Amino acid sequence: MSKVTVVGAGKYGSTTVQRIAEWDIVDEVVMTDIVEGLPQGLALDMNQSRPLLGYRTKVVGTNDYADTAGSDVVVITAGLPRKPGMSRMDLLGVNAKIVKAVTQEIIRYSPDAVIIVVTNPLDQMTTLAAEVSGLPRNRVLGQAGMLDSARFAHFIADAADVDILDVQAVTLGSHGETMVPVPSLCKVGDVPLAEALDPEKIEEIVDRTRNGGAEIVAYLKTGSAYYTPSAAAALMVKAIVEDSGQEMPVCAWMEGQYGIDGVYLGVLAKLGKNGVGEVSEVELTATERSALEDAAVAVAEKVADLEQIAY
Ligand code: LAC
Repeated sequence: MSKVTVVGAGKYGSTTVQRIAEWDIVDEVVMTDIVEGLPQGLALDMNQSRPLLGYRTKVVGTNDYADTAGSDVVVITAGLPRKPGMSRMDLLGVNAKIVKAVTQEIIRYSPDAVIIVVTNPLDQMTTLAAEVSGLPRNRVLGQAGMLDSARFAHFIADAADVDILDVQAVTLGSHGETMVPVPSLCKVGDVPLAEALDPEKIEEIVDRTRNGGAEIVAYLKTGSAYYTPSAAAALMVKAIVEDSGQEMPVCAWMEGQYGIDGVYLGVLAKLGKNGVGEVSEVELTATERSALEDAAVAVAEKVADLEQIAY
């Protein structure tokens, strides 16, 4: 018996709702947006697909946060996406206002929810939602690592010309310039990535992964990626509502793991009904570890900038 809310009925939000609904893993998915009619129309359309696709989850489209009451999990997608040439950080001020207001409404009606943030700049917006909500830090997490790891896996599969489902890929760090794709944790079948591709190719793929979001924004011109982002967010919701304990790369609160403390950062963590169950500390090379430390510093600096902004 679960209820999930997705805030924002844009492409990212509505595709996330669609995936969760079609998997038939919760009773109700509420989709809320400030645009009148948009969530209602999309919800009606999705609900009518149920007899064809054979699922029962009810989608509720609304402009009223009262309808989100008692949600177990809330995904915050609200906010502006990037335009070509913008960095995620250019959205800091404008999206801080939106995420703050949304979080206050969410917590008013669902004081015990687990909140997944996907709004950019991701690491800072996750920090902000945690602070505004007052929830224990394990109940607030961000989506980025699942998306970046999937992009990394796609590029590896293409370059190595292997079955995409045989590739394991991991990125840690921030969802931005200091993203840390981790070649030492990547495998092609049973073979370590370093044996499957030459170092120059790996470096090229790492770079492309780091710029994976901007590459798509440059094509789309009006908006950012949503198919893979929504798959990533929906899988996090699934792990939480099913209390599966599945380990995933997510943006989680650090409490001394890797010697890093008091900052939200992309790491591998086990997800369950309380959000982040446990942050896993995996073996990294010295270079990867120092890149992770740099990412923590970079995230903390921008969080400090955020505190200077009146939002
Ligand atoms: C991306 C955005 C959603 O990486 O951050 O595509």
